Amino acid sequence: MINLGILISGRGSNMDAILAGVKSGIIPNVRPCVVVSNKPDAAGLDTASKKYGVPTKVVLPDDLKGWDYDKKLAAALEDSGVTPQDGLVCLAGFMRIISPEFVRHYKMRILNIHPALLPSFPGLHAQRQAVDYGVKVSGCTVHFVDDGVDLGPVILQKTVHVMDGDTEETLAARILEKEHEAYPEAVKLFAQGRLKVEGRKVRIL
Ligand code: GRF
Repeated sequence: MINLGILISGRGSNMDAILAGVKSGIIPNVRPCVVVSNKPDAAGLDTASKKYGVPTKVVLPDDLKGWDYDKKLAAALEDSGVTPQDGLVCLAGFMRIISPEFVRHYKMRILNIHPALLPSFPGLHAQRQAVDYGVKVSGCTVHFVDDGVDLGPVILQKTVHVMDGDTEETLAARILEKEHEAYPEAVKLFAQGRLKVEGRKVRIL
């Protein structure tokens, strides 16, 4: 059994998609233990507790940076059963950069979703970057988290066509639909032990 912790900062629609997958049985072998936010007003906290009955926690930044904050995060996760041995940490719109110490703590047990086809358009406003650049195809990427921002080994990607007249908002909405397919799929593969990481490459067994 994998003990799942999800980190959010806002809406939590990807969190919702993952929890729906667990609840319906599409994602087997996963126990959602806790949803943690750095923001007390994150809408996803309500969704987690009211819609899914998953415990929630808020870990306020209090001006703490790097590992000083992240060790509080790790303690909140571990107290809920999300350990480096049998835990999985999903970043789902968590708007903080994770420290190298946290990455080492949960070595190869942290996933993130990014709304672009990495390595294109890392960082903030990925959908706006894609529209401004004029690419014809964009999408989303689920990847393992390593020390770099949006840099870890890619697990899976889904594409969408960029239409003439797309704005950041219209493209983001279409990419989000794909995110809601991709993230539960990646969590399922992780929970089934089907992800084999070989350097930068992730083989799906
Ligand atoms: C998503 O677009 C995700 O790719 C990015 O942040 C957004 C979070 O949305 N990392 P939500 O909170 O999951 O609805």
